[in-house]
Amino acid sequence: MCGIVGYIGHREAYPIIIKGLQRLEYRGYDSAGIALYDGTNIKLSKTKGKVSDLKEKIENEISTKGTLGIGHTRWATHGVPNDVNSHPHTSNSGDLVIIHNGIIENYDSLKQELIKRGYTFQSDTDTEVLINLIEDVKKNENLKLGKAVQVALNQVVGAYAIAVFDKNKPNEIVVAKLGSPLAIGVGDDEFFIASDASPFIEYTKNAIYLEDEEMAIIRRGKDIKVRKIQNDNLVDPYVQKLQLNLEQIEKGGYEHFMLKEIYEQPSAILDTFRGRLLSNEAIIKMVGVEDNMKKFLAADRIIIVACGTSWHAGLVAEYIFEDLARIPVEVEYASEFRYRNPVITEKDVVIAISQSGETADTLAAIKLAKSKGAFVFGVCNVVGSTIARETNAGAYTHAGPEIGVASTKAFTTQITVLTLIALRLARAKGTMSSSEFRQHLIELEMIPAKVEEALKSDAYVKTIADIYKDSKNFLYLGRGFNFPVALEGALKLKEISYIHAEGYPAAEMKHGPIALIDEQMPVVVIATKKGHYEKVVSNIQEIKSRKGRIIGIVTKGDTSVKELADYVIEVPETLECLTPLLTTIPLQLLSYHIAVMLNKNVDQPRNLAKSVTVE
Ligand code: M6R
Repeated sequence: MCGIVGYIGHREAYPIIIKGLQRLEYRGYDSAGIALYDGTNIKLSKTKGKVSDLKEKIENEISTKGTLGIGHTRWATHGVPNDVNSHPHTSNSGDLVIIHNGIIENYDSLKQELIKRGYTFQSDTDTEVLINLIEDVKKNENLKLGKAVQVALNQVVGAYAIAVFDKNKPNEIVVAKLGSPLAIGVGDDEFFIASDASPFIEYTKNAIYLEDEEMAIIRRGKDIKVRKIQNDNLVDPYVQKLQLNLEQIEKGGYEHFMLKEIYEQPSAILDTFRGRLLSNEAIIKMVGVEDNMKKFLAADRIIIVACGTSWHAGLVAEYIFEDLARIPVEVEYASEFRYRNPVITEKDVVIAISQSGETADTLAAIKLAKSKGAFVFGVCNVVGSTIARETNAGAYTHAGPEIGVASTKAFTTQITVLTLIALRLARAKGTMSSSEFRQHLIELEMIPAKVEEALKSDAYVKTIADIYKDSKNFLYLGRGFNFPVALEGALKLKEISYIHAEGYPAAEMKHGPIALIDEQMPVVVIATKKGHYEKVVSNIQEIKSRKGRIIGIVTKGDTSVKELADYVIEVPETLECLTPLLTTIPLQLLSYHIAVMLNKNVDQPRNLAKSVTVE
């Protein structure tokens, strides 16, 4: 995810753009840049770091004069965060400038074609390829900018929200959208462009939200022309009256970042497998795995190191790797691993999982494993983070910035990446038939829509939260793939509501925790069909006979658990190994609503930091 802002009008563009980028920083904050047209030339300034770093740089470096400009705050996908890879990008002639939020999946083949035609590239980004493709089309076919953008976009596979201008025609900006958001603020002889309306809310309440596959040519003194990218048909733009205040917009209309991030999971999971899971071709493409396939296949075992929620994702991965790829897996708390003189050899593959990529214990565990000769593979969310750089290879989750301290979309996207790796290895090892493999790809591809469906239980989960919010303790139970989900559900509740909660494998209940059960004890039981279902139903009966309050997380249409439980929350059916991606959703919502009802600081719980960079 990245944030884009643009302005064309009668005001100075710079203050609008820099403030707008600050408001969009929730969308990405690893690098930022601005291009301004000062009446003669394009002034460009960009830097690795936050928008505040850019502000400091730009105000020392260039004149901020100009009534046309575009800016970008980045969350890297192609190319590490550095000054060169930051946006805006210019074409080889220096005439065209672009900002882009999204991923051009076929950028590599387009790049090779452009190189053959003499183009050169400064950055590793897909965006620099796009702006040169636009330039190439414009030059060769002698087209106006709008038409050239349209022709180029018809050659592109991927997602984008872009804004482009030409220094030789400084009265217009061309924008286009597919898959990433783009709002146009319509003022009095001035226009604003942004990923959401927050950058222009104080200037105009009139906004056009482009639909997918639409582009617009925005000219001062003229009406906006919106057309379909594919077929040139003109579209009558719908101008909305914005009724949001700034605070709401920054959180995208959600009360908290955590809730926003819970709701972002369908798109975050989709972004994570986009370009990797190719179900039509029945393949999984992951460069980091492909390049190191020999190491993975020769490994005696995989050791997963992580902390907190990432450790829970590692536990889910243990079940998935062993079940699908038949590789022995051990999951370790990084903090224990680093201090206990573990046995590690060159034949071990260590997978380090970290949202932030900065967790001190995980980093130390990686260094230890590397010093013993193990191959270390990272699964991180923050591009260019220390762990991403320190590992031998890796695969990013593409969850976008996670601002809420309680990890939500990071967890489900970590599971997504790890599932892709397990499937790829299973295929390479021949532990799955091609039809099983294909079925897993198809099912995984359906997960974003199923998460969307699971989110529909939100209002019902809220009523359950209201009933149990004053409980002093909670127990979470699950078996198999869903045992780690029980742990994660308990952690979520603890960290934001400060209610004591424990997660257990359901069958372990009889070895101790059963003594805790009475009519005051809510027990959240994950009891999806398949996966030892009958055994979990027996566990539920044991809880019921001791008067425990049962909240069942069940497969849609379930009747047996419904008869026993006080409440059931349904999730759609899927393959057993993919159920954690769905059963997690109601548990996140339950803890969120309880914490809100208890007036807790959901996004910044006490004593906790988003990334734990100390021991
Ligand atoms: O950034 P990391 O994934 O390495 O962070 C690990 C834990 O600190 C983190 O998952 C923590 O447990 C979260 N607050 C859980 O919601």
